[in-house]
Amino acid sequence: MPNEPLLTVQSLTVGYGGSTALDSVSISIYPEELLSVVGANGAGKTSLIRSIAGVVRPLDGEIRWRGVDIAGFPPWEICELGIAQVPEGRELFRNLSVEENLLIGGSLKRARARRSGNIQQVYGLFPRLLERRLQAAGTLSGGEQQMLAIGRAIMAEPELIMFDEPSIGLSPSLTRAMFDIVKMLHAKKTTILLVEQNVADSLSIGDRGYVLENGHVVLEGTGAALLTNKEVRRAYLGL
Ligand SMILES: Nc1ncnc2c1ncn2[C@@H]1O[C@H](COP(=O)(O)OP(=O)(O)OP(=O)(O)O)[C@@H](O)[C@H]1O
Ligand SMILES: [Mg+2]
Repeated sequence: MPNEPLLTVQSLTVGYGGSTALDSVSISIYPEELLSVVGANGAGKTSLIRSIAGVVRPLDGEIRWRGVDIAGFPPWEICELGIAQVPEGRELFRNLSVEENLLIGGSLKRARARRSGNIQQVYGLFPRLLERRLQAAGTLSGGEQQMLAIGRAIMAEPELIMFDEPSIGLSPSLTRAMFDIVKMLHAKKTTILLVEQNVADSLSIGDRGYVLENGHVVLEGTGAALLTNKEVRRAYLGL
């Protein structure tokens, strides 16, 4: 890798009560790369994203953003640094309109001045959201809600976007459209952490990837190498 990592997770341990969700996990994300983290239900994928986002406080370890340890920073401060997430379950403001959700996403100091231009950009990307701009977010279809969650993240002008299983609950055609959006953001040089159970699709678009099992990193490599790895093919692709 040419540069220093943008984000380094070092020996991260996350637990809830007595149970351990992540056990000394280390990963690096380099500028402009699309990093895929795959793993089964309960592997610790959401715990990884939530601890980077500041929503879960790790028990141990470091999360370095451009060299600064941000573990324990509050979520808003992490957003202001340029780290956005498209969370599992979307977490929209259900009673607010599409446009109000986007405006909230764009209300951070780092992006506020360009909010109206950014909204137009999101509507250009997702014409469906423009058609439904006054509709309550909670009444959108699942696919539309996923578009809104992505749009809200884009409004923050993030350097790193973390996607938590964006394909979940989407039809095959919407899943393709969603992966196309991820690829488009990657082409525009946004750094991406893509967490998925959809192992084949996410490793095939990932520059590099990690496999998480029971809170441990068990494999790491380029997306292409992991896709042809015997263990990955047997355990995740049924081949
Ligand atoms: N708030 C919580 N309280 C207690 N245990 C939790 C909590 N959140 C997660 N866990 C546990 O931590 C482990 C990892 O969960 P996590 O949600 O990170 O997995 P995941 O890889 O995202 O799974 P999935 O693919 O099902 O979303 C699981 O055993 C889960 O039950
Ligand atoms: Mg999860």
